[in-house]
Amino acid sequence: MIGAMTLYRSTIGRKVIMAVTGLIGIGFVIFHMYGNLKVFGFMGGPSYFNEYAEALRSFGEPIFGHTHLLWVARLILLGAVVLHVWAAWSLYQDSRQARTTRYVMHTKVQANLASLYMRLGGVILLIFIIFHLMHFTWGIPGIHPNFIPGDVYHNLVVGFQSYFYLPAIFYLVAMVALGFHLYHGTWSLFQTLGFNNKTYTRLLRALSWVVAVVVTIGFAIVPIAVMLGIVS
Ligand code: HEM
Repeated sequence: MIGAMTLYRSTIGRKVIMAVTGLIGIGFVIFHMYGNLKVFGFMGGPSYFNEYAEALRSFGEPIFGHTHLLWVARLILLGAVVLHVWAAWSLYQDSRQARTTRYVMHTKVQANLASLYMRLGGVILLIFIIFHLMHFTWGIPGIHPNFIPGDVYHNLVVGFQSYFYLPAIFYLVAMVALGFHLYHGTWSLFQTLGFNNKTYTRLLRALSWVVAVVVTIGFAIVPIAVMLGIVS
């Protein structure tokens, strides 16, 4: 109990918080990416994709009410994002304070560059998530030109066809940022959670790489297919 309460104070405690919340995020993006592939005819197509979106809302009925379990998942995700950002921010502040002068000789150039890219990628992803919710979940006019509640397939296709493909291009840029963030994040979480055994280094590097590449390509092919008119 005391351990759990002081977890947030120690450096390793906050790294564990980053790792566990990151793992929740990885689970979510893999699930979400797989679900999105249903827009393709061979994976189900338009009506199946909409049924899937409805199934996410009615999941658990009639034991639970409509969207109740979806809300549980949303709250877990939101909590994970908030804790992940807070831990990253607080670890960054500590590392800045620990350093009395700015580095002159960059002995840890690689580590510093990686953490710089993680912060940059994290900010791009936060901006992306807010835009993405306004685009496909809330359907804010001006961001989505013709949002029809419940017709998730239509919203996706029209959302990517509109505004000279600018939203679709932004998604592609964000997915590249997601790929780098996932690669380094997955690798770091293995280390934090104690899998940094020499024997497994190559395997874990490869696994981090596979997760990043599969998720990035799996997400990116949806806007690309809409832009090419394969999904319409
Ligand atoms: C090309 C990539 C993506 C596409 C095409 C896409 C598509 C969608 C669509 C169509 C919805 C609405 C679903 C519905 O109303 O049932 C949605 C919701 C959502 N997406 Fe994505 N998504 C993508 C990437 C991402 C990424 C990378 C993240 C997170 C890092 C993400 C997080 C979310 C969240 C949090 C929701 C709201 C779920 C809810 O509360 O109902 N998406 N996405």
